[in-house]
Amino acid sequence: MSEATARAHPNIAFIKYWGNSNQDLRLPANSSLSMNLAGLQSETKVRFDSELSEDQFILNDQNQSGEALKRLVTFLDIVRAKASLDDRATVASHNNFPAGAGIASSASAFAALALAGSKAAGLDLDEKALSLLARRGSGSASRSIPPGFVEFHAAEKDEDSFSISIAPPDHWALIDCIAVVSEEHKKTGSTGGHLLADTSPFQITRVAGADERLKQCKQALLERDFEAFAEVVELDSNLMHAVMMSSQPPLLYWQPSTLDIVQHIRQWRSEGLAACSTIDAGPNVHVICIEEDSTEVATRLEEIPGVINVLTAKPGGPAELIN
Ligand code: PMV
Repeated sequence: MSEATARAHPNIAFIKYWGNSNQDLRLPANSSLSMNLAGLQSETKVRFDSELSEDQFILNDQNQSGEALKRLVTFLDIVRAKASLDDRATVASHNNFPAGAGIASSASAFAALALAGSKAAGLDLDEKALSLLARRGSGSASRSIPPGFVEFHAAEKDEDSFSISIAPPDHWALIDCIAVVSEEHKKTGSTGGHLLADTSPFQITRVAGADERLKQCKQALLERDFEAFAEVVELDSNLMHAVMMSSQPPLLYWQPSTLDIVQHIRQWRSEGLAACSTIDAGPNVHVICIEEDSTEVATRLEEIPGVINVLTAKPGGPAELIN
């Protein structure tokens, strides 16, 4: 019997990935750029046990079955194959942020699982190998392995598509103020959504320009140029949602209050507040701002009708083992 426990943060993508070039290997259609979210985390314990006849998955104290369990077993099979191990495992995981809060829990979940699972299986993987492994569970999980601001490379080969840190968490005091407008579980998650990306006539154009946007975003981030950063982050989010909305069947994740927040942010920025918005596969809005403006931004967001609550997160560290 061997066990390990790990912790990882979710992340918010400034340059998004949407669509896979290889669905089984979860090779992303384009490279992406993100920030880990400190304070929000998944903590996961994995125990391999020769006495067990099947894998067990307990999430936030609830026994999981169906699709959630199937996805976990598929991932553990990859770990077992790497470690030449046959034992089944018990996986117990906790998120400290509410489910359906508009934060992709799959990123922190599979990053923590990759680290705890590989360690418990007797593997000693470096950051690159962990990032490659986490990607197999969820593309964005690859970005939750390294610290701070992270770039995820798209590539044709499995061994070339992984994430690296481009700047540590203390590089820039950005805050993600997450304006929660709905706590409902989304109907089409990202795994199903990626499959639809190529049905949109805009996906080719979005992917073709992604490297250039990533370059601009990276430069703005490294130079701490908020105005340039804000423009490219909002453009990239809009392009992804244009693809989603024009897929067949269409994916429309926004609620009226989503658009209301986006318009408020544009107005506030034109008045001098350093804030911009980005939206994932859900209706909640991630408002990225400079730390000194974050109390003002969060207070203003709470006053917008339809905003249920606002969560805030600073740039976060890497996935880590817990003793
Ligand atoms: O990692 P996945 O399969 O949950 O996909 C993430 C997709 C987005 O969150 C919408 C964009 C991104 O790059 O994080």
